[in-house]
Amino acid sequence: MIDLRSDTLTRPTEAMRQAMARAEVGDDVYGEDPTVAALEERVAGMFGHEAALFTPTGSMANVLAVASVVAPGQEVLCESSAHIARAELGAHGAISGITMRTWTDRRGQVDLAAIESMHAPDMGPFFVATAAVSVENTHNFAGGTVLPLEDLRALRAWADTTGVKVHLDGARLWNAHVATGTPLSDYGRVADVLAVCLSKGLGAPIGSLMVGSADAIAEARVRRKRMGGGMRQVGVLAAAGAYALDHHVDRLADDHAHARLLGEALGLDPQGVDTNIVVVGRPDAPAFVAAAADEGVRIAAVGPRAIRLVTHLDITRADADRAAAVLARLG
Ligand SMILES: Cc1ncc(COP(=O)(O)O)c(C=O)c1O
Repeated sequence: MIDLRSDTLTRPTEAMRQAMARAEVGDDVYGEDPTVAALEERVAGMFGHEAALFTPTGSMANVLAVASVVAPGQEVLCESSAHIARAELGAHGAISGITMRTWTDRRGQVDLAAIESMHAPDMGPFFVATAAVSVENTHNFAGGTVLPLEDLRALRAWADTTGVKVHLDGARLWNAHVATGTPLSDYGRVADVLAVCLSKGLGAPIGSLMVGSADAIAEARVRRKRMGGGMRQVGVLAAAGAYALDHHVDRLADDHAHARLLGEALGLDPQGVDTNIVVVGRPDAPAFVAAAADEGVRIAAVGPRAIRLVTHLDITRADADRAAAVLARLG
């Protein structure tokens, strides 16, 4: 089977497992795991922020990050198919007491005009106050699309004039960085707080980080524990993440090339495939998924009328060629 359902399916490589086995560890709730501390410091530095916090999942990093800038009873604005809106099972409402309003953009882009018109300043007992805007780069359900840096900078400039904060869901920000050459620090500069994942295209078995100010991270460390996310000798997992940062960032370009091949096989303009995710509208999504599986290619239906394919570390060029041939044949 060639498994293109998600880039979370990767298994740690032998070299990554060796790095995990060698990791120095301690009790991280006591702040005594040197491998976790080094990873947190390294990732904060990559984005030009003061501090970072290791979390088991991207969802937890997002929940902590958004809650650091949006209080209970306030709202965050985001695109309607953002992961925080669609796929975190209502965590921001259920856990943090936050509401959301959304704009819709087929490619998941920042719509500053919509944001400006939705923005509700604090008017006391009349409207829910807009505390933050959340953007997702790359945008998963829009098909791995990149948000251009100039759009993010325009959002930052607007946020500075209004006092609204910016949250960046950067689960796949590494892919945007490799696809565009934009320095990670430039992405860091446009956001008050970020979440980044090591367990997607980078191939670590687990691990994400919230990145932000020292104060926000100190508060999030307490909330993480309250949510049951205080972890102990977790340097073995942080070591996998550090290994991934050392060895698996530049190779994301291969995943992007493979995704373009698959997109082309499905009739898309490969230039419109920005990174490692291909989403194609198809009225027969479930039947197409079943037919591909019969031919040895696993893909996902994302809704009744769309399919998604994701390339990753465990997909070789030969796999991509074979999958592309199957998909083109199925038409
Ligand atoms: C854009 C985005 N943000 C956040 C997450 C959440 O990550 P996790 O599955 O580790 O909770 C995902 C997961 O696929 C994602 O695609």
